[in-house]
Amino acid sequence: MTTATATAAATAVVPAAAAVAATATATATVDDPTSHRVLTGDRPTGPLHLGHYFGTLRNRVRLQDQGVEMFVVVADYQVITDRDLADRLAEHTENLVLDYLAAGLDPERATIFAHSAVPALHQLLLPFLSLVSVAELNRNPTVKDEIAHSSQSAVSGLMFTYPVHQAADILFCKADLVPVGQDQLPHLEVARTVARRFNERYPRTDGTAVFPRPQALLSDAPMLLGTDGGKMSKSRGNAVALGATADETARIIRGARTDADRRIGYDPAGRPEVSSLVLLAALCQDRAPEAVAEEIGDGGAAVLKRVVTESVNEHLRPLRARRAALAADRGHLRQVLRDGAERANAVADATLAEVREVMGAVI
Ligand code: TRP
Repeated sequence: MTTATATAAATAVVPAAAAVAATATATATVDDPTSHRVLTGDRPTGPLHLGHYFGTLRNRVRLQDQGVEMFVVVADYQVITDRDLADRLAEHTENLVLDYLAAGLDPERATIFAHSAVPALHQLLLPFLSLVSVAELNRNPTVKDEIAHSSQSAVSGLMFTYPVHQAADILFCKADLVPVGQDQLPHLEVARTVARRFNERYPRTDGTAVFPRPQALLSDAPMLLGTDGGKMSKSRGNAVALGATADETARIIRGARTDADRRIGYDPAGRPEVSSLVLLAALCQDRAPEAVAEEIGDGGAAVLKRVVTESVNEHLRPLRARRAALAADRGHLRQVLRDGAERANAVADATLAEVREVMGAVI
């Protein structure tokens, strides 16, 4: 996202098409929280990091606390899009739930579930796939990027179709708001297209639409870079995990790339690595990045890294304390997933019944 939008309020509700052009109209809160249903989620491939936290996790908790109904999908089947094996899937799934709960998601209010535990959700994939052309699947920029970074020797069919699967994640519960990062906007466009085409092709007899057209809810936090200056990513080893210890945090930040200019400033375009560190400290301190940079002044990379490390460790202290307490009870994490699956299954079964009806299924 551009720095122009970085100064905007907490969250921005934007139609996905407008968001691609980064012309977000920002609002701090959603209007009429109880009229919305939010779905969002993550792949269980490893611990969540600071990019997830400032990018979407914090927004999810804010929305929940405003009273918005929330579904959070642990997208376990999506793990096998860009790798042959879903390695340590159960462990990663439980740890994802652990990160969610530590960050403040409340399983009493938010439905947290693994999508492999909800069969009716996957059954939506068939009619949805019929609504999208191969050319459209081929054009998806996020898929192209993932293919470029994939460790697989051959690109699987799932790689091209998973955005449609993700549309099923969103539409099974008729979510109208989807808090995501910038990289997910092309997928949201797929979900909007699928919803629109389904509604056109299969109108209800009373003329009403089966599916809402979901909107992206973009965080205003500009993209944090990884410590190597590239995209922050679980798999690239360039991120501070939420559950990292204070010492691990210090070590990772100490290794971050900076530049030779001792004067610390905030200039994301000209000095991306230094600016990303400044921004991270600023987000943790809830201050403007320019003020943080000004304070460090001529302190150079050493002072900058010390400030960032202290800010991160301070900000995450309560989250990490909650995480440690929750980690001791794996049974609880599994129970959260079971309860979530039960609720998600009831919703998915009802949606599938409606879909079959408008499609004219006999029984
Ligand atoms: N593709 C998302 C990611 O890699 C995870 C995801 C799966 C998702 N299904 C979703 C996100 C539905 C939002 C809505 O992070």
